[in-house]
Amino acid sequence: MCGIFAYLNYLVPATRKEILDILINGLKRLEYRGYDSAGVGFDGSIEDCKECQIKLIKSQGKVCRLEEAVQKCKDVSFEKSFDIHVGIAHTRWATHGEPSDVNSHPQRSDTSNEFILVHNGIITNYKDIKSFLMKKGHQFESETDTEVIAKLIKHLYGTHKDSNITFRELVEIAIQQLEGAFALGVTSVHYPGEIVVTRRGSPLLIGVKSQTKLTTDHIPILYSKGKKDISLHEEHRGFIGSGKRNEEQTEFHPIGPNKIVEYFFASDASAVIEHTNQVIFLEDDDVAAVKNGCLTIHRVSRNVDDSTIREVITLKMEIQQIMKGSFSSFMQKEIFEQPESVVNTMRGRVNFATNKVVLGGIKDFMCEIRRCRRLLFIACGTSYHSAIATRQLLEELTELPVMVELASDFLDRNTPVFRDDVCFFISQSGETADTLMALRYCKTRGALIVGITNVVGSSISRDSHCGVHINAGPEIGVASTKAYTSQFIALVLFGLIMCEDRISMQERRNEIIQGLKTLPEQIKEVLKMDEQIHKLALELYQQKSLLVMGRGYNYATCLEGALKIKELTYMHSEGILAGELKHGPLALVDKAMPVIMVITRDLVYKKCINALEQVKARQGEPILICNSGDTDTQSQANKSVSVPLAIDCLQGILTCIPLQLLSLHIAELRKLDVDCPRNLAKSVTVE
Ligand code: AGP
Ligand code: GLU
Repeated sequence: MCGIFAYLNYLVPATRKEILDILINGLKRLEYRGYDSAGVGFDGSIEDCKECQIKLIKSQGKVCRLEEAVQKCKDVSFEKSFDIHVGIAHTRWATHGEPSDVNSHPQRSDTSNEFILVHNGIITNYKDIKSFLMKKGHQFESETDTEVIAKLIKHLYGTHKDSNITFRELVEIAIQQLEGAFALGVTSVHYPGEIVVTRRGSPLLIGVKSQTKLTTDHIPILYSKGKKDISLHEEHRGFIGSGKRNEEQTEFHPIGPNKIVEYFFASDASAVIEHTNQVIFLEDDDVAAVKNGCLTIHRVSRNVDDSTIREVITLKMEIQQIMKGSFSSFMQKEIFEQPESVVNTMRGRVNFATNKVVLGGIKDFMCEIRRCRRLLFIACGTSYHSAIATRQLLEELTELPVMVELASDFLDRNTPVFRDDVCFFISQSGETADTLMALRYCKTRGALIVGITNVVGSSISRDSHCGVHINAGPEIGVASTKAYTSQFIALVLFGLIMCEDRISMQERRNEIIQGLKTLPEQIKEVLKMDEQIHKLALELYQQKSLLVMGRGYNYATCLEGALKIKELTYMHSEGILAGELKHGPLALVDKAMPVIMVITRDLVYKKCINALEQVKARQGEPILICNSGDTDTQSQANKSVSVPLAIDCLQGILTCIPLQLLSLHIAELRKLDVDCPRNLAKSVTVE
């Protein structure tokens, strides 16, 4: 869980300062993915760096600390210009070994930096590889799992260099020894001007920038001939891909005599979009190599169903979409984008005049979905809450059993899954390891896989049989906000399609569709209360704990609100089902305990009022989130925040936003980093 960024310029002269600026800027765009330490590795020269030709600068802390370290670096000539150059960079979220300079990436093969690499993921068999390499005399300096890869590549180079092994072949052999998840970028003094990148389980894409047209809009994959199992103990005699291929050799480069080109390698598109919108998403086990400015993509062998090409995709994302603008944080920007992001989720899908709903990504699978035995919704964190928020409606509209599952627990239980199940995987990033593993678990059992993701080209969207992109736009803040409301809406749209032919449900269905139409305006109304919520935050920010209570359609709001509060403010917070109060949580309530209660005008209103009475009877002084104009309810507490009345099943979208704003303000008042809360990362690509 981290960000990889690499840059290769081929016949595009650039000074080292320009190159380092590109690398560090790329890391800043990816910093939300992981941020406990950062590093860069770039081509040097003998005069720059006495004992090596690749220079590493690494620093614990955020990317700005690395930037300072780079600026302070005395033995680097920043004005030196390079026609061809390779640099790799990394922002880390530690899994093995504490955040420290030496554990930061790039990790290296030896003190001369012969091979350096950046890694996103976890190598689960690193201990075995480490003990093998130690027996061979390699000395380790870090506590990371990553270091074994750099040393393994060097070890293999020692064994194979006499056979003119290519850089790509070397990496291809090495990764066959690795278990776990990885995206890797590797460079070497032995292969100047070249880079090899590969992935398995962690995302990686390549951006291509060229002034002239490219030779092709897709890259055929090259397959290495004669797969042979190699174990470390065989010392890699007869490695894979010994130069011969079973398909025509195909390279990818700009047309014209000079082949001037720049390549960007990144964990996600937000880091490359300011340079180019032409990108190639790598698949698991692809090995991509750039040599003499030409890009090739290789795989060891081909399975029958595998695509034999990788397309060059034109991204529609704009740079403004990933800039903060006048907002104090990405999270604030994303909260305030919700009137538009919910419209984008519905755009082209809902016809408010005819009450028709179409989801193009799943329409061909609707017959199969309607025939299913049960619906499973599997996700983590906020994405899981979006399924809780819509479960009741989906049960009502589909009349099917609906199971909502946390991906990690679902896997722990080895939950039975059948061919006639339809499994939905909800994930903003589309890369969450637990969710992705649950997806693969269900896929191997024959279930239909439906992805609900925000990131186009993400692993979950590619591994699903069909799916829905929520189109909320890039979400950079670690705390999920606009993705939640868009996931919520995407699931409601699915429910509406499931009941489109049921006469008995038409009235309810039409009411919901008209409710969706007014939602963007209602969200704007809620956002107008920002100042009032800021005042509430001033009263609460020094508290240690905050309970959020509600039931029915608002239960998910309580869970999601409490998650936002703990994630951003580091305060203890719990989302409590009001119906469970008397079974335990009521013991927490007294005069001093801050409580927020969500009470809106729906079928459980009376039950919520009972809970309010129970809290007040214990001297509790709850703050209410209730409906505008509901003076009866407002009069029952000293403080309240009111949100417009929506149809019951959509009310949760409006009640959640005050809690998003409250957690943002409390975090700011506590002087915490809103976009990068401690210990967390945006994309959790490890189990
Ligand atoms: C939300 O604020 C959290 N950052 C987290 O719970 C997140 O929703 C979870 O990790 C799942 O991520 P995904 O939607 O990208 O799969
Ligand atoms: N497992 C590696 C480490 O701890 C990489 C972690 C990451 O993805 O940032 O160094």
